[in-house]
Amino acid sequence: MPDALSDVRKWAGQPVVETPIKGGLSHRIARLDTADGQRWLLRVLDPRVSEAGLGIPLDQEITNTLHAAQTGVGPQVLRRMPGALLLEYLDGVTLNAHDVRTLPEPIAAACRRLHAGPRFVNDFSIFRKLDELLALCRTHGLRTPDGYEDRLRTVAEIERALAADPLPTVPCHNDLLPENFIRCGTEIKIVDYQLSGNNDPAFELGDIAAEADYDPDLTHRLARAYFGEDSPRLNARVRLNLVMSNFTWTLWFSVHHGLLREQAAADFDYDAEAADKFAQAVRDLDDSGFGRLVDRVRGARPGRFTPPSQHPRRLE
Ligand SMILES: Nc1ncnc2c1ncn2[C@@H]1O[C@H](COP(=O)(O)OP(=O)(O)O)[C@@H](O)[C@H]1O
Ligand SMILES: [Mg+2]
Repeated sequence: MPDALSDVRKWAGQPVVETPIKGGLSHRIARLDTADGQRWLLRVLDPRVSEAGLGIPLDQEITNTLHAAQTGVGPQVLRRMPGALLLEYLDGVTLNAHDVRTLPEPIAAACRRLHAGPRFVNDFSIFRKLDELLALCRTHGLRTPDGYEDRLRTVAEIERALAADPLPTVPCHNDLLPENFIRCGTEIKIVDYQLSGNNDPAFELGDIAAEADYDPDLTHRLARAYFGEDSPRLNARVRLNLVMSNFTWTLWFSVHHGLLREQAAADFDYDAEAADKFAQAVRDLDDSGFGRLVDRVRGARPGRFTPPSQHPRRLE
């Protein structure tokens, strides 16, 4: 990352030592230590990620990061450069899935803070992202897990159910895997606005639950903490979005595996991750309670939804 780093060195007017941070799958992230003892975070965005549809355009991400900083949930932005950001270094603990399972209430509070802040410059829908990633797979002949497209009809039912009585959109992160949360004392901060955009808050919650392997009870607790009420309908909405997170992000890994192989993390199996996410989506789509979730979301009389097992299956 020579350009952004030399820009920072010039701006700082003093020696700056760079230490790469391993962890993210997409960009070049480094801790910077200045000669006079300051510590910063340099995030240099890889344009190939957004060109492949795996992130929003760089300018949007950068502006959204500035908006998130205004809420205090995102790190402060110290300097904006073309395709790069110099951020406040959050001196805390990056969460793992176990941590996220123990902290549903503080995580809901962090989301509420982010969502109450300035709107982002773009909108985001997990269904349009699915269309986009699917089109990329088809255009480039990328491998998707066996049986993936057989599920698209059920996914269209999920979209119709959620659209029947939509929630107002709010500035969402949309990619809240555990490693994008940093705990600083009692506060939870959120980094990495690569997929941010105004969206249904139920997707934010469902995505958190999917990424940290929440069971239905824990998902319910997260929904209750966020919405401040015990609503079966909102809870069902979060559960359907959990399925959509696993289903759609399956293709994030398929596309990364197929199109960005040469810049992939060497020790991460993108193909295996795609298969794992799809298996989790299938587990929920085939669950006997799935039809009830759809009915609850659209407020219909039980029985109107056609269970997925009754859908005609494409012959292999
Ligand atoms: N502002 C920050 N302060 C401290 N650590 C950070 C900061 N931003 C990111 N990190 C660390 O770097 C890791 C990768 O950063 P992230 O922005 O999520 O990159 P990627 O887009 O590649 O996932 C995070 O999981 C976290 O551990
Ligand atoms: Mg990240």
